[in-house]
Amino acid sequence: MTQDELKQATARAAINYIAPRLEDDSIVGVGTGSTANFFIDYLAEIKGTFDGTVASSEASAERLKSHGIPVYELNAVDSIQFYVDGADEANPALELIKGGGAALTREKIVAACAEEFICIADESKWVKVLGEFPLPVEVIPMARSLVARELVKLGGDPVYRQGVITDNGNAILDVYNLSIENPTSFEETINNITGVVTNGIFAKRSANILLLGTSTGVKTIT
Ligand code: 5RP
Repeated sequence: MTQDELKQATARAAINYIAPRLEDDSIVGVGTGSTANFFIDYLAEIKGTFDGTVASSEASAERLKSHGIPVYELNAVDSIQFYVDGADEANPALELIKGGGAALTREKIVAACAEEFICIADESKWVKVLGEFPLPVEVIPMARSLVARELVKLGGDPVYRQGVITDNGNAILDVYNLSIENPTSFEETINNITGVVTNGIFAKRSANILLLGTSTGVKTIT
């Protein structure tokens, strides 16, 4: 199977998981990226069986709207039943690296509101230790160099993602050469650097379920 077929299979598995649990007033949080895009396209098939969605990026909001799926501002909803999103890396504790699509801050906010976070990923994202994928860090633009110097002190090699401005108007540093043995404390350490908006480690709010697309089928990891 191609990587896209694995992504489609995991997105379909997420629909199969949430569909019987949705109610008329359910809100679904929707992530960002190519796997999330497959999920959005399949979600269109069951629109009308739930209230609407909250999107983690402008791109996902546009795609949802193009299917006629209602999109709400996060401040307008009381709760989010499911948050469904991809990842750049996932470990056996269901801690993640996210932000390859530069949407990490809104993704982290929507995930934090969700009762259940379902991660959908193909098997190339499965790792024992997070950090081979360069860790995205969203920074206030004027603090970019300050934050980069602090990240070097933590042992990383930050690279400015040229030409990318997040939906929040900020910059992204991708931090190479990390081996993240303790994701929860490292997430907090980086977030404590002045000028950091957030970083792409999802450990404080890890996933509840990982639907991992493999060549032998979609595995459910909890
Ligand atoms: C966007 C993300 C994505 O979930 C992550 O980059 C995975 O993307 P894809 O599904 O295209 O492989 O965190 O900020």
